[in-house]
Amino acid sequence: MRPEQYTKKISKAFGDHAGKYDANSSIQKKIAETLITYCPDLGKTPQILEIGCGTGHLTQLLLEKYSNANFVITDINSDMLNVCKDKYSSHSSECSIEFTTMDGEGLGVPLNTFDLIVSSMTVQWFHTPRKSVEAWTDHLRPDGQILISTLADGYFPQWREAEDRSGVMSRLIPAPNFPNQMSIDRVVFEENYSHAKGFLEHLKSTGASSSSQNCDVLGRRELGLLMKAYDSKYDGEMTWKIAFGKLAL
Ligand SMILES: C[S@@+](CC[C@H](N)C(=O)[O-])C[C@H]1O[C@@H](n2cnc3c(N)ncnc32)[C@H](O)[C@@H]1O
Repeated sequence: MRPEQYTKKISKAFGDHAGKYDANSSIQKKIAETLITYCPDLGKTPQILEIGCGTGHLTQLLLEKYSNANFVITDINSDMLNVCKDKYSSHSSECSIEFTTMDGEGLGVPLNTFDLIVSSMTVQWFHTPRKSVEAWTDHLRPDGQILISTLADGYFPQWREAEDRSGVMSRLIPAPNFPNQMSIDRVVFEENYSHAKGFLEHLKSTGASSSSQNCDVLGRRELGLLMKAYDSKYDGEMTWKIAFGKLAL
C-alpha cells in the first residue's frame, strides 16, 4: 500500500469511530493523565501545539494546566477533531484556541513559534515517527519542548506470545524509534479485556485496529487460531508498554 493510501486508511479508521472513542478509551485517558505530569510550567501566554488531539483527552488537561496559553489543536481526521472542538471551543478562560485538521508528518504551521509541542498516542501511526518528531523542532521557539506518549517496544506481550505459539505472523504496528536527543521513560499499564474478543473490540472501537503498513489483514482462520491461543493462556490481561518522550532545545 502506498504511504498516502495508508495515511488515509488510518485517518478513516479513527474517523469512523469518532463517536465511540470516548466511551472506549479509558486507557488512552490514563496515558494522557500521565503525559500531562511531564508537561513543564511555562511563562506568560505560551504557544502550544497539540498533534493528534483525537476527541480531546489530553486537550482538556492542557486547557486546565495552561489557562492563559494560545493553542493550536490539530488532528489529521476532521471527525475526531470536531468532537474535540465541540467540547472545548467555548472553553471559558483567557486562552485562545484554534482547531485545525493537519497531518503531524508535515506541519502546516509557522517555524520557531511554539513553546510546547505535545502529542499523545499518535506518532505510532506515522510512516517516519523519528524523522517527523525531529522536524517538529524547527517549529519550536528557543527553549521550546516536545512531549509525546506512544507505544514502547514489546507492547502487548501477551498477544505477541500468543502469535508466536499459534504461528500467526504479527500484524501489530511497530513501536516508534525516537530522536537521539529525546529522553524516554517507559511506563507499564495493565488492562483487562476479559478475553481476546474483548481486546479486539477495544482496538476496533477506538479506531486502532489497523494492521501494520505492509501486512494484509488477518484472515478468519489465522484470527481464530490466534484468539484461541490467547484465550487458552490468558484471562483478558494485556500490558500496555508506553513510552513518554521529552525533547528540550
Ligand atoms: C489513539 S488516537 C489518540 C487521540 C488522543 N491524543 C488521545 O490520547 O486520546 C490517535 C489520533 O491520532 C490521529 N492521527 C493519526 N495519524 C495522524 C497523523 N499523521 N497526523 C495527525 N494526527 C494523526 C488520529 O486521527 C487519532 O485521532
